[in-house]
Amino acid sequence: MNLEKSAIEKQIKNSVLLMPPLAETLERAQFICKSHTLNGQLLYKLISIDPILFCQTQILFNYFYPKLTGTFNSISKIIILLNINTVKNHILQFIVKTKAEQQKQLFLHSIAVGIASRFIAKERNIDRKKFELYYAAGLLHDIGKYFSCELDHCITGEIAAKTIGLHKSLRNVVAYHHNIQEYNEHDSDLLFNVVLADYFVHKYIHTAGTEKYCVEIDDSIWKTLNLKKDFFASVDKDIRAEIKKIEKFIRAGIY
Ligand SMILES: [Fe+2]
Ligand SMILES: [Fe+2]
Repeated sequence: MNLEKSAIEKQIKNSVLLMPPLAETLERAQFICKSHTLNGQLLYKLISIDPILFCQTQILFNYFYPKLTGTFNSISKIIILLNINTVKNHILQFIVKTKAEQQKQLFLHSIAVGIASRFIAKERNIDRKKFELYYAAGLLHDIGKYFSCELDHCITGEIAAKTIGLHKSLRNVVAYHHNIQEYNEHDSDLLFNVVLADYFVHKYIHTAGTEKYCVEIDDSIWKTLNLKKDFFASVDKDIRAEIKKIEKFIRAGIY
């Protein structure tokens, strides 16, 4: 690795550890974490829709359970093992008003791909126990875009995912979702599932500024996933409804 690249890598690692919460969920996070009667379900919902809080929670968990670093740890498991107040206090530390630029499009894209990925997994009869993993892979696939840097977001994301200590299958999704031809490990199920979810969201859900990545899906992906091409028509409405629910959740209690 040349010097310039290692300096960039260091910069990404530092920003991963200090990343501020998203402007989109900031007020909702304040509302939930400062409430006198903290509700575990609300805390779970908050973390599971915000890619940054999701990663911060994973970092905290890895700190207390270093042996589990690199395994997939669902948010529900983390809240139970660490206890609700530890997680809440950790989030509160990051709730400082920042002049973070509006990342609304990216935020909604992350959630939409998470939801679409879970819908696809359901349609494909993937074991229910893995739904959280399939959702998380969609939510985090563009994590590299949250760190402004001159490198491609797949490279930035891979460095960030390693720093966070994400499960290897999630790291692969982050690193290869735009270059599956370079992926040479045998289990491509999760990766292909997210690639399809990303395609669907770019093409049908919201397209502003996302055209660059909206390339047609290779037939081999449809075949591997064993899905018909008209599949999305049947779930389009449901996915939009889920996104609307999350938008409502973010605004609830603020205005
Ligand atoms: Fe991407
Ligand atoms: Fe994407």
